[in-house]
Amino acid sequence: MKVKELTVYNHQAKACAKMLLDAFPERYSKSTAKDEILRLLRGENHIFMVLEEDEVIGFAGSMRHRYPVAHELYPMVIRVDKRYKGVGKRLLDIIEHRLKDMGVVTLYFGTDIEGCRSSLSGEDLYENFFEKLENIDAISHPFLFYRKQGYSVVGAIPDALDHGHPDIIMAKRLTEKKSDS
Ligand SMILES: CC(C)(COP(=O)(O)OP(=O)(O)OC[C@H]1O[C@@H](n2cnc3c(N)ncnc32)[C@H](O)[C@@H]1OP(=O)(O)O)[C@@H](O)C(=O)NCCC(=O)NCCS
Repeated sequence: MKVKELTVYNHQAKACAKMLLDAFPERYSKSTAKDEILRLLRGENHIFMVLEEDEVIGFAGSMRHRYPVAHELYPMVIRVDKRYKGVGKRLLDIIEHRLKDMGVVTLYFGTDIEGCRSSLSGEDLYENFFEKLENIDAISHPFLFYRKQGYSVVGAIPDALDHGHPDIIMAKRLTEKKSDS
């Protein structure tokens, strides 16, 4: 497997758009999935795709919003038949190295997707927020994947996807602070 940056809207970009639509059918239509890929091809955003032979089997995007050295990782999708085989972990490792080389200090994102449940689901996060965040747990949830890759839960957006369905925010420091000598 190799990881390559996508820079133009070609057949590989179309494969990414299809994967996005397949992974998040509640969130995207065919045309908005294409728009999302086009957005990731613009400005200081990036798309990193995983290739097996020349076939795209997964991809992830990184976006620069208003922070100078923090980028958002979104989306990240591994094709269904390639999940739980270590592909996501390897893709994330490579992305972290590439972004670090570009001067990115923090990689952050929201991990919640429609249909995934954690101990925060159904809770009113305006009550005992920190306690609930500290004791967060789930049986199967993307945040468990990211936690294994060294990401910390740094917050949550209450009712982000719907009432009682928050988004769990995670982040990781990619580079240590340089000493002032
Ligand atoms: C989340 C996702 C990117 C993970 O990629 P992957 O290639 O399946 O993950 P890996 O095989 O590299 O998993 C690494 C570890 O995380 C664990 N893991 C992966 N997904 C998990 C999940 N949803 N819940 C719990 N653990 C998970 C694996 O079991 C593995 O554990 P191990 O090291 O103890 O064996 C992938 O499952 C996916 O595309 N999901 C649908 C889209 C999505 O949810 N994207 C994230 C939010 S934008």
